[in-house]
Amino acid sequence: MKPTLLADTLPDGVFTLTDHERHARLRLSEAVWAYFNGGAADQITLRANTQAWQDITLLPRVLRPLAGGHTRVELLGRTLAHPLLVAPMAYQTLAHPLGEQATAIAAAALGAGLVLSTQASTRLEHVARAYLPDAGRGPLWFQLYLQPDRGFLRELVQRTEAAGFEALVLTVDAPVHGARDAERRAGFELPPHVSAVNLHGMRLPPTTALQPGQSALFDGLLTHAPTWDDIAWLRSITQLPVLLKGVVHPDDARQALTCGAAGLIVSNHGGRTLDTMPATATLLPRVLQAVAGDAPVLVDGGIRRGTDVLKAMALGASAVLVGRPVLHGLANAGATGVAHVLRLLRDELEIAMALTGCRTLADAPGALWTQADGP
Ligand SMILES: Cc1cc2nc3c(=O)[nH]c(=O)nc-3n(C[C@H](O)[C@H](O)[C@H](O)COP(=O)(O)O)c2cc1C
Repeated sequence: MKPTLLADTLPDGVFTLTDHERHARLRLSEAVWAYFNGGAADQITLRANTQAWQDITLLPRVLRPLAGGHTRVELLGRTLAHPLLVAPMAYQTLAHPLGEQATAIAAAALGAGLVLSTQASTRLEHVARAYLPDAGRGPLWFQLYLQPDRGFLRELVQRTEAAGFEALVLTVDAPVHGARDAERRAGFELPPHVSAVNLHGMRLPPTTALQPGQSALFDGLLTHAPTWDDIAWLRSITQLPVLLKGVVHPDDARQALTCGAAGLIVSNHGGRTLDTMPATATLLPRVLQAVAGDAPVLVDGGIRRGTDVLKAMALGASAVLVGRPVLHGLANAGATGVAHVLRLLRDELEIAMALTGCRTLADAPGALWTQADGP
């Protein structure tokens, strides 16, 4: 049967993002589940991400006027209905036959931003056509890894510009894959019909035989790994703003701004790269301090509740990206499922704002319970 965009219905009993997660697990094979939900190595960072948001506590303020409140934020010169964006995630047709297109339709309808992965399993032009016509849509960004084939990369960037993407997100925290032990245990492999279609035709660098004692990583793959100098090259080939995703050290944050980054995304790749690095909720304040308001700082990793979004905004984030829950919604009910996930988060955010006396997200910092508030 040919898949249609909105024909899927939600399973019964799904009221939260964790309900979506539980249902998605039943729908996906063990191997795809391990790919989507797994983290690197012992998955310590993966668990820390969700835990860290939960560990931040909120303090209600009462009897404040809330009428006319809203979730709007300003981001890169635009007013967004709310601060939610869909994080870049590869191979979404593993979750649903319409994959990234279904995600795009849902994100646009819910006013959420969309960051399309370089490793999307749908042509970027199709995703842009699904997303851009919606008047209430958020921003449409394209995520890049710096590929050694610079001619190909230049053409890819030109394609994203022609298709209507509005910014590039360069992911800098994954020069190599993390140790994805859960995936390997589950025997995950991409099925033949799912591939990174936007990278077809890219030339891989010639492999040179390693001498005895040489490292396959340091003397092989990493000889082509990007460095700070490459940011200038990327900026020289595009008019689009370039954000860096995966910057977590304050010194790197400053260097990124010196290199002309238009914004930063504090991310640990959802715990999929370096295990035992801190949760993003823990890393965010130091990056914000270093950036000192000179550029927007977004955050992702472990956002599962509207209260998590409020906490991220209270710490000073400009917006948040949501990863795995979108894949869960997609697996459960295609575009309908993704829309439901985004809707739940936004509704929960509004409830959290009302209960902490925040009329707008500018009030959010006052919602945090801090040590100064008492024992
Ligand atoms: C299945 C999967 C694929 C991903 N693929 C990409 C990718 O292609 N590029 C990228 O920058 N980040 C990728 N990420 C990381 C996400 O963009 C994001 O940083 C992370 O999922 C946020 O954490 P959360 O899933 O806990 O919300 C991927 C994450 C998952 C779960």
